[in-house]
Amino acid sequence: MNNNYDKIANHYDTLSRLVFFRSQVNAQINQLQYIPKNSSVLIVGGGTGWILEELAKVHVSGLKIVYVEISAKMIALSQKRNYKGNHVDFINLGIEDFSTDKNFDIILTPFLFDNFVEERAAKVFVQLDGYLKKDGLWFLVDFSLNKKNGKWWKWALLKSMYSFFKLLDIVEANHLIDMVPYFLKSNYRIIEARSYYSSFIKAFILKK
Ligand SMILES: C[S@@+](CC[C@H](N)C(=O)[O-])C[C@H]1O[C@@H](n2cnc3c(N)ncnc32)[C@H](O)[C@@H]1O
Repeated sequence: MNNNYDKIANHYDTLSRLVFFRSQVNAQINQLQYIPKNSSVLIVGGGTGWILEELAKVHVSGLKIVYVEISAKMIALSQKRNYKGNHVDFINLGIEDFSTDKNFDIILTPFLFDNFVEERAAKVFVQLDGYLKKDGLWFLVDFSLNKKNGKWWKWALLKSMYSFFKLLDIVEANHLIDMVPYFLKSNYRIIEARSYYSSFIKAFILKK
């Protein structure tokens, strides 16, 4: 079980829209206006690549994007996207096995950390932190659930999501890791925090 979405790549977007309508999409689209032109952008776990078309609506060219995705099927779908004049390097690897000497202006990890057990989440945080330039922005979008915002239906939905992904033998995690304390401990500043789907989805922009 390595969090590879190959098995449901062709159905992932439909499933997501069925359960969350456009909340998962809106949480990510809203953040894209913060990307300055000609930025270098690292996207980890971009799924079917719809985000590339949304990025192209904000900047038709000039972005240098590295797109790291563990699922070969997700990469194949993403390569078919119309990302206009932006440059995209597609890398079919788990982020843990990717290394680069490049530094990025922007890092996107949409619905990535909620797949991970804490040990992997902590390691990937340190790895990606090392790739982000000083003053760079990290767009963190994930499910969020705690004793304060936890209505019964969110716990039930989260449990059934994890059970579904366990049944398919895809996702290793059993519960959500709150990543925000990792950022705060590393002195990131929260530039924007937005909630979607009755606060079950949280989208943060964090500045290094
Ligand atoms: C929940 S899906 C989210 C997809 C997309 N971000 C979206 O919101 O539509 C998580 C994606 O992360 C990918 N993934 C999981 N673990 C990964 C890893 N270690 N490195 C790179 N990609 C990973 C999966 O294959 C899957 O496509």
